[in-house]
Amino acid sequence: MSFPTTRLRRMRQSEPLRALVRETRLVPTNFIYPLFICPGEGVRKEISSMPGVFNISVDEAVKEAREAKSLGLGGIILFGLPEKKDEAATGAWAEDGIVQRATRAIKKEVPGLVVIGDVCLCEYMSHGHCGIVQKKNDTDYEILNDPTLEILAKTAVSQAQAGMDIIAPSDMMDGRVAAIRKALDQAGFSNTPILSYAAKFASGFYGPFREAADSAPQFGDRRGYQMDGANLREAMREIALDIEEGADMIMVKPAMPYLDVIAEARRRFDVPLAAYQVSGEYAMLQAAIRHGWLDRDRVILESLTSIRRAGAQIILTYFAKDAARLLS
Ligand code: PBG
Repeated sequence: MSFPTTRLRRMRQSEPLRALVRETRLVPTNFIYPLFICPGEGVRKEISSMPGVFNISVDEAVKEAREAKSLGLGGIILFGLPEKKDEAATGAWAEDGIVQRATRAIKKEVPGLVVIGDVCLCEYMSHGHCGIVQKKNDTDYEILNDPTLEILAKTAVSQAQAGMDIIAPSDMMDGRVAAIRKALDQAGFSNTPILSYAAKFASGFYGPFREAADSAPQFGDRRGYQMDGANLREAMREIALDIEEGADMIMVKPAMPYLDVIAEARRRFDVPLAAYQVSGEYAMLQAAIRHGWLDRDRVILESLTSIRRAGAQIILTYFAKDAARLLS
């Protein structure tokens, strides 16, 4: 009888040995925690499809920011629910817009915490699309690319003026990174980095977010600007273009259904790479956890490890605080 000479199990015998040879490590600075800011004071309204995630007012956001900092998170990203929506996304770039106010308060009260601004128009548009809509007739409409760039650039500048550390465009219009870079430079913000949602797929996994941000399109869908989930090579073109246009960091979104895209982006591009574990990924895990079907602590860390292992060094995740606690 012959025995195997290669014994991989030797290094799996105990936790200290496993820790010694572990290839992928998670640290709290890997995680970015998303916050949904709404009008009012003392507001904390749970999002029904995302248990444990809340619509919060500016004062509550400051508390969350403090907690994020004390847990050592990499940062937070802000989404806004404006008081009013219109067809020009006025709330996105208003000086006293909801995100601008939250940014000022957080930068003042919690210095040193990285604050990222999601730049998109869907939360501020009455129709819920990420750009300007031109109606052609009752059924036909177009999302206008270049006029939208102007509003996006204006939004980015107004966020930078409020003190935003990083600008993260998530709209998927062509040329937005160049337009935003140019506008930031002209306004004196040449040191403000851009984290581009470069490969953002039209995904069913954004469902709960649209409840959280009240941003579901009122007609049609986002397939005319977000990417087709079947396309890996096109994702690489999107990323290459965004880097050329001046993106400092790039993002793939969603994360778990697109791990191959993350891995390929890591292999091809030498810029910092982020991935977004989106609302539907969170909801799916939470639902099973709450049924007692999955072990909470294990699946939180396992899902984040898989995204990290695929090559993303920055992970936007609603589990950011939970994961940081599990790692301490
Ligand atoms: C805005 C935006 C969306 C998400 C981040 N920025 C929604 C969408 O494109 O419909 C999704 C995040 C999530 O699902 O957690 N365009």
